Amino acid sequence: IDDRIARITSAIRVIPDFPKPGILFQDITTLLLDPVAFKDTIDLFVERYKDKNISVVAGVEARGFIFGPPIALAIGAKFVPMRKPNKLPGAVISEEYSLEYGTDKIEMHVGAVQEGERALVIDDLIATGGTLCAAISLLERVGVKVVECACVIELPELKGRERLGGKPLYVLVS
Ligand code: PRP
Ligand code: MG
Repeated sequence: IDDRIARITSAIRVIPDFPKPGILFQDITTLLLDPVAFKDTIDLFVERYKDKNISVVAGVEARGFIFGPPIALAIGAKFVPMRKPNKLPGAVISEEYSLEYGTDKIEMHVGAVQEGERALVIDDLIATGGTLCAAISLLERVGVKVVECACVIELPELKGRERLGGKPLYVLVS
């Protein structure tokens, strides 16, 4: 496991001052360029979730769409996209969340999940936790049990984990 985590860590590129001065951007596109590290990333999640009776993998636009589907296919779960506003064509339920300045929203199709299903929520990174928190709320509003949230990267200094209200969070790189 440690070998795999080390390879994943070094495949993530850190770009200073993007998108704003002072921000150290964690760029997962370089992880995608390394097929071994990318596969290790997916495998680590699959090993953790394959026997947890998960029927839904919910991924948050945009970067949750990269990691979610291969995990869903491997564990035999459906993939549900949680999209930015006004992208989904059918009836949606939506949840607003706060950003550093202002608010944003994610949406999910009505009927994509059924009451009583068990979900894994996946994204590339947790910063303040606002995005994952909104994803959890959306699923719980329709009676889905969120078993765990999983991210490739956590920025622990932003204390996003504390915002998840005790919901378990699994990360590969901190
Ligand atoms: C980034 C990242 C997470 C979120 C984490 O997405 O991919 O989804 O921010 O931040 P938080 O924990 O403070 O909510 P972003 O909204 O920049 O959009 P993208 O994934 O579409 O690039
Ligand atoms: Mg994102």
